[in-house]
Amino acid sequence: MLVDQLGRPLRDLRISVTDRCNLRCTYCMPAEVFGADYAFLPRTELLSFEEIERLARVFVSLGVRKLRITGGEPTLRRDLPDLIARLVRLDGVDDVAMTTNGLLLPRLAPQLRAAGLHRVTVSIDSLDPDVFGRMNGLNVHPQKVLDGVEAALQAGLKVKINTVVQRGVNDEGLREFWLALRDLAPVRFIEFMDVGNHNGWNLDSVVPSGEVLARLGEEFRPVNAQYRGEVAARHVDAAGHEVGLISSVSAPFCGDCSRARLSAVGVLYTCLFAGNGTDLRAPLRAGASDEAVRTLVQGVWAARRDRYSEERGEVTRSRKVEMSHIGG
Ligand code: GTP
Ligand code: 5AD
Ligand code: SF4
Ligand code: SF4
Repeated sequence: MLVDQLGRPLRDLRISVTDRCNLRCTYCMPAEVFGADYAFLPRTELLSFEEIERLARVFVSLGVRKLRITGGEPTLRRDLPDLIARLVRLDGVDDVAMTTNGLLLPRLAPQLRAAGLHRVTVSIDSLDPDVFGRMNGLNVHPQKVLDGVEAALQAGLKVKINTVVQRGVNDEGLREFWLALRDLAPVRFIEFMDVGNHNGWNLDSVVPSGEVLARLGEEFRPVNAQYRGEVAARHVDAAGHEVGLISSVSAPFCGDCSRARLSAVGVLYTCLFAGNGTDLRAPLRAGASDEAVRTLVQGVWAARRDRYSEERGEVTRSRKVEMSHIGG
């Protein structure tokens, strides 16, 4: 079995399909940086669906079992259901999910489900229109996201909710937030991370997961991970409502990290915080065989030593890949 330098297998591939987004979350694509004149990637630069499918097949041959579609905002990619249909057909893939801001789900959820998508994770950081409007940078109302969640559930998709918690920004009323959502779907509270180069991260703005759980004000018991290296530590209350805690800062989970990330232009990153990646598109477009691409990926994974979240504080990285390029 293929493992990296720290003995971790390759199980999970996150595929970004666009660098664009219809929101401007301050911690991801702040409007001051990603403004009207920001140069997004031209379409010809993006991997085609044929190229993505080919690469996914190569990754599956090396052990990947789980695929997650990300962006930017993946639903902005034209004909996305066609890509999903190609990916769910791959032999060996048992989970195809997507991380989305939910805004386009009222239109797309039925088509995505029909194409075979298993589940979606929808991001929403507050139910307070002012707070959410500020955080998403475009004053979009939280009801728009809830409509997306509803549409996904209606279409028969499994749903989770992601919430990035920032101290002094959206950490008031976490209990009320959770009470309002807990019957809809499991909510995962994410510690604000120092991803990319623009989000003005500092340790003071992180609310550690232990504090989040305490503020929810219920008795919780931990439940077992659904798969090795699961990002969220899951807990349930007495009534069975599930909460996930994603504690990349207070309790890093690099030890079991089996995730590779493919950017929309076909660069392979072996860590969310990587400075550099490996271009897979160039060999693909130069006519490399599947076997040659497979050997390249195998070599990259075999050499991998990434454990950024465990080293945070010891290393400073001058330039990191942008969240909008690899989708978290
Ligand atoms: P599940 O398949 O449902 O377990 O989803 P997931 O948690 O793997 O994916 P999702 O896209 O919902 O990510 C949730 C949060 O965890 C986001 O903030 C991601 O940036 C973060 N995250 C996901 N994978 C990693 C990782 O390998 N390292 C770190 N540091 N954060 C991660
Ligand atoms: N810290 C933590 N999570 C983040 N996300 C985006 N930027 C950050 C950050 N700086 C989350 C999004 C989405 C997921 C893919 O990553 O809210 O839920
Ligand atoms: Fe868009 Fe998601 Fe980034 Fe927000 S976090 S700007 S919704 S890609
Ligand atoms: Fe994996 Fe890097 Fe995240 Fe650690 S910081 S869990 S190595 S992606």
